[in-house]
Amino acid sequence: MTTSHTSAGEAQVPAKLAIPELLEMKGRATRIAMVTAYDAAGARLAEAAGMDVVLVGDSAAMVVLGHESTVPVTMDEMLFMTRSVARAVRRPLVVGDMPFGSYQVSDEDAVRNAIRFVKEGGADVVKLEGAGRMLPRVRAIVESGIPVMGHIGLTPQSVTALGGYKAQGRTAAKARRLLADALALQEAGCFSIVLEAVPAPVAARITAELTIPTIGIGAGADCDGQVLVYHDLLGLTEGHVARFVKRYADLATVIQEALESFVADVRSGAYPEERHTYGMPADELAAFEADPKP
Ligand code: KIV
Repeated sequence: MTTSHTSAGEAQVPAKLAIPELLEMKGRATRIAMVTAYDAAGARLAEAAGMDVVLVGDSAAMVVLGHESTVPVTMDEMLFMTRSVARAVRRPLVVGDMPFGSYQVSDEDAVRNAIRFVKEGGADVVKLEGAGRMLPRVRAIVESGIPVMGHIGLTPQSVTALGGYKAQGRTAAKARRLLADALALQEAGCFSIVLEAVPAPVAARITAELTIPTIGIGAGADCDGQVLVYHDLLGLTEGHVARFVKRYADLATVIQEALESFVADVRSGAYPEERHTYGMPADELAAFEADPKP
């Protein structure tokens, strides 16, 4: 890890992970760890855990804002969350996830909104979904000086067109299409590509053919890195979770039990105790109680 130093030579705050360093991680076969975060508390914990990349994902639409899909989240909502995350971390690369509608219409729109992520949100880079028609968008954003992370395979913003949250690239022809898309995104200037819900051998081939790192989510063990959604990883997601999710904690149960204990303590009067309350000097209290008028 690169660390900045004071003039006296003591280690100071860790330096931002540079994109060339991320590319070197692929060369050294050091796997890249990435997680989503939507607020300062989550982002701080992600950095303390050693995360390389923090994605302010548009999955926020579902796990934070309670929508049925990622489609409704707006630029302003994404910027609000991105600012909270960017303020909280030093070393991890902060990726602003461009929401549906913020880059599909034109290159100008895409560049304007990518700039908003960097200037107003404090993001280091942006991510957008798709290849094909999106390649000029990638080129335009990269030319404006903002690094772009691609995202192919299951692209949740197009879930209706894809016919649901299903694995992609499961025929030879579709797998070849994904490989062609990945190569085209690399050619367009992406510094990394997320591969979501792609058969492991297809992701392995793409990873081997690209010089830029792949970050898998449901794409097998041979990607250059892995990403999971914070709420899925921590067991905060209700209902069905995708096959590729590994739960590292059951925080929903921990939080539920804590909240139930608080309700029970409030009802019974067990909370607050003496140690949770403030006193005042005895003479002030006596004076206060002696005078009935306010
Ligand atoms: O929005 C998100 O969380 C994502 C990840 C699933 C890669 O795009």
